Amino acid sequence: MLAINAIIVALIPLLCAVLYLPTASENALNLPSLKNENFLFLTAHPDDECMFFAPTIISLLPHVQVHVLSLSTGNADGLGDIRRTELMASLDVLGVKEGNRHVVDHPALQDNITMSWGANIISDILGLYVSDLDITTILTFDRAGVSGHPNHRSLPEGVKHFIETTAVQPPPKFFALISVPTSTKYVGIFAPLLAKFDLSSTKLLHSVEAFWGAPGLTDTMPVFVAGVKEYLTAHRAMRAHKSQLVWFRRLYVLFSRYMWVNEWHLVRLQQ
Ligand SMILES: *[C@@H]1O[C@H](CO)[C@@H](O)[C@H](O)[C@H]1NC(C)=O
Repeated sequence: MLAINAIIVALIPLLCAVLYLPTASENALNLPSLKNENFLFLTAHPDDECMFFAPTIISLLPHVQVHVLSLSTGNADGLGDIRRTELMASLDVLGVKEGNRHVVDHPALQDNITMSWGANIISDILGLYVSDLDITTILTFDRAGVSGHPNHRSLPEGVKHFIETTAVQPPPKFFALISVPTSTKYVGIFAPLLAKFDLSSTKLLHSVEAFWGAPGLTDTMPVFVAGVKEYLTAHRAMRAHKSQLVWFRRLYVLFSRYMWVNEWHLVRLQQ
């Protein structure tokens, strides 16, 4: 019994040490080569930026211009104006510049849990922002939309439509946030622990492959893992969305994997 207690007591500082610093995969969007490019996070509602994308936004901020475009004010309950203000407060906390915050309020793109948004409308709006802001990379949800919300699920369809039809050459790169199954979604601090373990083993595997002269056998996806400080920042950003802090969202931010880990899929499209 004593031995087990001693092991647990010894493990706690080790766990804290592992959790402490943020990490990213070696290929995470090739950070060092990015300089000051314009990256666009395309979201559906105010609070998506901190509930789903915070580990990546915080990691990218020192390297690129981070823009956030919310395609609605989140007006499902008539709180659109309040939520727009809360979004600005959240972006203050995350560190996204005032000039890089964009909110659209379009009649066909209203916050509605039963409605899909038209890909062509999203694509038209994206076109304006991409040219105006010289966007080189777009990051948004994948087709499962993490939570399955139809507004989220419409976004990658809109980006796909935009990239397939735009005259902009080369078109922006398109990354989709990988939706994980519900069973692994609410694992709290095990998410960053496992993700970091995964990243270290991949790195090890790569060195073994390089040693044997067979690099490239394991193709990895870009991954960003928050450290403790980054997690607390995301949490503070979420608390700026005062109108949204009902009990289930408070639980969400405590246990959700997306407050700690973002894995991305580079979407390759034919033009
Ligand atoms: C959401 O859209 C449906 C139609 O799909 C409509 O009946 C409903 O009133 C809308 N809800 C809100 C809050 O606008």
